[in-house]
Amino acid sequence: MDKPRLNRLMTSEEIASIVEKLADQISRDYTGKELVLVCILKGAFMFLSDLIRRLRIPVKVDFVRLASYGAGMKSSGLVEITKDIETPVEGKDVLIVEDIVDSGRTLQFLKERLALSNPHSIKICALLDKKARREVEIEADYLGKEIEDVFIVGYGIDFNEGYRHLPEIYYVTPDAQ
Ligand code: PRP
Repeated sequence: MDKPRLNRLMTSEEIASIVEKLADQISRDYTGKELVLVCILKGAFMFLSDLIRRLRIPVKVDFVRLASYGAGMKSSGLVEITKDIETPVEGKDVLIVEDIVDSGRTLQFLKERLALSNPHSIKICALLDKKARREVEIEADYLGKEIEDVFIVGYGIDFNEGYRHLPEIYYVTPDAQ
């Protein structure tokens, strides 16, 4: 794809309304609890920044960076941690914030990794889910929207590290289409 074409999939308004709904549910469910949001870099940074501003409860926030072994090798199931959280989560309620669930391997790995620190609970909040691509059994506890198996960019999500800054979400097709 030398010159990809961007086709709008979700507008800023739709994203904002989804984020608002998720923030409402999370605020209700975690009232009175010690919530730590764990954002998966880089794709989820924009979703996290919108979500956290809509929450009506106090939270702590931390970041984790994960990498698959080699490009295009996600199906190998080998995920490694390249930046860990710094916040102690033992006894705390942890909510993983992710932009998109694809094979599910990133979230499966992170959930198992975080469980080693004995948090009180671990749940997942994902903006998008490509359920058709799932390879392992994992589901988001809070989900924004299920989408088709299309290549998407924008709102934090990249193509060759580009397009993350776009405020809306697009699916990419070759220019010829
Ligand atoms: C993407 C996305 C998720 C992950 C989902 O991240 O942001 O973290 O892949 O895929 P999976 O369900 O198959 O594991 P990517 O590895 O592209 O890194 P990035 O967030 O830094 O762009």
